[in-house]
Amino acid sequence: MSETAKLILHGQEIDLPVITGSENEKAIDISKLRSTTGYITLDPGFKNTGSTQSAITYLDGENGILRYRGYSIEELAENATFLEVAYLLIYGDLPNTEELAYFDESITHHTLVHENMKRFFDAFPQGAHPMGMLSSMIASLSTFYPESQASNRSVTDIEKTIHRLIAKLPTLAAQAYKHNKGLPVMYPRNDQSYCGNFLQMMFGLPTEDYEVNEVVERALNKLLILHADHEQNCSTATVRVVGSSQANLYSSVSAGIAALWGPLHGGANQAVIEMLETIRRDGGGLEKWIDKAKDKNDSFRLMGFGHRVYKNFDPRATIIKVAADEVLEALGVNDPILDIAKELEQVALNDEYFIQRGLYPNVDFYSGIIYRALGIPTDMFTVMFALGRLPGWIGQWKEMTEQSEPIGRPRQVYTGSTSRPYVSLTERG
Ligand code: ACO
Repeated sequence: MSETAKLILHGQEIDLPVITGSENEKAIDISKLRSTTGYITLDPGFKNTGSTQSAITYLDGENGILRYRGYSIEELAENATFLEVAYLLIYGDLPNTEELAYFDESITHHTLVHENMKRFFDAFPQGAHPMGMLSSMIASLSTFYPESQASNRSVTDIEKTIHRLIAKLPTLAAQAYKHNKGLPVMYPRNDQSYCGNFLQMMFGLPTEDYEVNEVVERALNKLLILHADHEQNCSTATVRVVGSSQANLYSSVSAGIAALWGPLHGGANQAVIEMLETIRRDGGGLEKWIDKAKDKNDSFRLMGFGHRVYKNFDPRATIIKVAADEVLEALGVNDPILDIAKELEQVALNDEYFIQRGLYPNVDFYSGIIYRALGIPTDMFTVMFALGRLPGWIGQWKEMTEQSEPIGRPRQVYTGSTSRPYVSLTERG
């Protein structure tokens, strides 16, 4: 017999179906509650609300488990390429040799962007935040590929849109960087890997040959995999909600980039480095900063600490911490910020305030340190996150579309004025 939950409202018993996930997680289905009782449920920030049933990513925040389509993040980060993981997230299984070759080839041959887009970059002020440029550029891709907009778009149209997005995001990200540097744009190269091509577009110059450093390429591959999906987080939920109105994939991803930008989400990687820099410049001990973070009258938070779902440890942070040590050593970089980060982590992990609230370093705490070592400027960190998260956004958008999910439209409890008559301006004085 299927499991049900009982809700008692004004003495009346209402049976609510219980949904069980493949890892035995439980949910109470309240989708018919309003039509049967007139009640809605209230959950600001969706802290306890499941918005979908998804087969993409499994996350167990209590035990620090993260799996993409059943594969552990640890194994994928160690063994896979980013394009394999992208394929896995979007299509459901790891590709075989032929599938991967086709996917790789198609991505490689869609990396150029329309030359007119250069004029958009020209119009941005020097120093424009690259996330603002990226979000605009991705939305504008829909104007170059109108077949992505049609509500009766074919499977082939969707496939092309997916491949174009994965291919063009690195090109546009590198162009945003070059724009701010005032340096010439480097065109994509078909003889490079996905990560190698991105690095040469970022750091190559027309005046010299650019050789991709293998340590850097491997580190980038790992970082992108670690960021590739994280179930219904703020930006992914945004992509699904925007897409649920049947908006095209470019616009949905552009909205996801905007959501990612905020410092409470992907923007935290930039905020972490800025915080560590401030602590370093301040020169005092860490206690002052820990006390500020604990003080409810102070808006300061330890950036890179805490997570809506992980209350024990973030498995991505564990992998990144080890990778940060390896990359810095291999590149011979000595970054005093890393020492401050490690010290801060230790102080916070032993403090009752952080222990009680389950606040641990998240993925953003150490990723910025690696990006710095790779020569990526601070305001590009969240762009790096977007590069990684793209296949997750695409896979989630595709799943939402294939499941024909209804338009995302929450309800509310109204707390404003009750009905009142209009008062003319003369009477209002
Ligand atoms: N520093 C100090 N206190 C914190 C922090 C922090 N970084 N994070 C949470 N807390 C405290 C809160 O003040 C609250 O305390 P209280 O119970 O005494 O009121 C308690 O811990 C619970 O925090 P909430 O904000 O309710 O938790 P929520 O799940 O809403 O927020 C979030 C999660 C946004 C990640 C939060 O921990 C935070 O702001 N962290 C810093 C920003 C950050 O690193 N964001 C990146 C997250 S990972 C990602 O998006 C890729």
